[in-house]
Amino acid sequence: MAKETNKENKSRGQGNATPIADFLLKNAEDGYVSFHMPGHKGSRIYHEFGYDAFLDNMMDCDVTEIIGADNLFKAEGIIGEVAKRYAELYEARDSYLLVNGTSGGLIAAILSAVPRGGRIIMARNSHKSIFNALRLGGIRPVYAYPEMIEEYGITGEVKADEIERLIKEYPDASAVILPSPNYYGICSDIEAIAKVVHDAGKVLIVDQAHGAHLKFFDGIWDEMPKGAETCGADIVVNSTHKTLASFTQSAVLNVCSDRVSKLVLEDRLQMIESSSPSYLLMASLDINAAILSEHGTELAKRWRENLEYALQRLSSIDNLKVMKTQRLDMTKLNLDMSELGLDGGQLEEELLARGVRVELTTGNILMCMTGIGGARSDYERLADALEDISKERKACSGGKSVGSRGAGENSAAGVENSDGVSIVNRRYDGNMLSYRSLELCDIPAESEVIKLKDAAGKICAASIIPYPPGIPIACPGERLTGEIIAYIEGLIARGEKVIGVTAGEILVGS
Ligand SMILES: Cc1ncc(COP(=O)(O)O)c(C=O)c1O
Repeated sequence: MAKETNKENKSRGQGNATPIADFLLKNAEDGYVSFHMPGHKGSRIYHEFGYDAFLDNMMDCDVTEIIGADNLFKAEGIIGEVAKRYAELYEARDSYLLVNGTSGGLIAAILSAVPRGGRIIMARNSHKSIFNALRLGGIRPVYAYPEMIEEYGITGEVKADEIERLIKEYPDASAVILPSPNYYGICSDIEAIAKVVHDAGKVLIVDQAHGAHLKFFDGIWDEMPKGAETCGADIVVNSTHKTLASFTQSAVLNVCSDRVSKLVLEDRLQMIESSSPSYLLMASLDINAAILSEHGTELAKRWRENLEYALQRLSSIDNLKVMKTQRLDMTKLNLDMSELGLDGGQLEEELLARGVRVELTTGNILMCMTGIGGARSDYERLADALEDISKERKACSGGKSVGSRGAGENSAAGVENSDGVSIVNRRYDGNMLSYRSLELCDIPAESEVIKLKDAAGKICAASIIPYPPGIPIACPGERLTGEIIAYIEGLIARGEKVIGVTAGEILVGS
């Protein structure tokens, strides 16, 4: 809630518009329930555990490296203390606080594990920051393709067999990197992957942006996949802001072995991160660690109870499927109401109309991202809204299911791009559907700007990234096809954000 502390000193007016601040204040007051990032879900959790003073004095806490404030890049004082606390919490050798999100941590990890011009084995459904690291380090990728979960048309786990095969084929690769959990919460078997990677003498980096919380369910929920720190990864990067209680953009990098030099890693971290790291972000990491140390067990139990409550209510809603897969992070609720004729995007609109905001939709799937700060009332509102949608849709259709569109059918059927090509099925995790067919060439040294519609056959020079989920549909070095261009045009026609396309133009090799 906004507070007006100095009513005498109001100079705000029409000519002094503050569109970002105004938006945020309105958003904070509009009463929506959040099933999206960040994981703290607002100030409630800080108030609950007595951090009111920090919230009240935030502006005055925004300092720089004053005496006694330590230094992020030589953390020997208060920042070092918090880093140590994280190392204890995750049972890691060393931890590093990050102020450029997991994105910065992944880039630094790759640049410290792979020499310039070297090779890395990486999941093709990796986050854009990993592709950016390749560009920065002149690193050559080899793609490990995740499995496809056909029923839902989304990407699943990366298999240890696939990694083993690629290591044999590319023995010069220095490291392996993959996301686990992926955006939908599907984890890979990190223990098995760590074994094949280490048997070959290579480094395993796990992008655990979506799984910072997994460790805290140890001993509380046996069905939950274990954190990558426990499963033998060398470097694990966690977006504590996505599911735990630190502020957006803060994250934690855990080092679990001595396969990568600390000195090199620290050098790469200072290369990537701001030289003016935000003390507010670091303080939120501090508070998050304190909450976890003192109340982690109680909060994980509460979270589990809330999820079980939601799952139980959701299981009695007609025509609602809740995705279940092997090694699924149960804090992600992947919902499918396609039997009622709603794809993920349409279900999102229905929920929004009932005051519920979600994280992601892909095809028929709508993903609700829960977090440590969620309250029982949030889960009640989600279940109420879904019950209401189900009843309303059935009433409209005279009590019958409206008809299921399989994951392979096109919700945008009939929509065509400028060349009359049918838009590629949005129901699929299109990033997976199409990119498998792209030929991988050398990353172009020089680039030119051309129209997207004219780019078939050209080599992509800058990643093209639908957001969310932020996974590139085309990466530097990949030869663009008519199919992929139609897919991108389809996304843009539907009003989705696609980074790398500006005014219908993209960068290709010249
Ligand atoms: C799989 C994955 N990895 C990494 C990141 C980057 O995390 P951050 O936002 O903390 O930089 C994201 C962000 O959404 C992500 O989805």
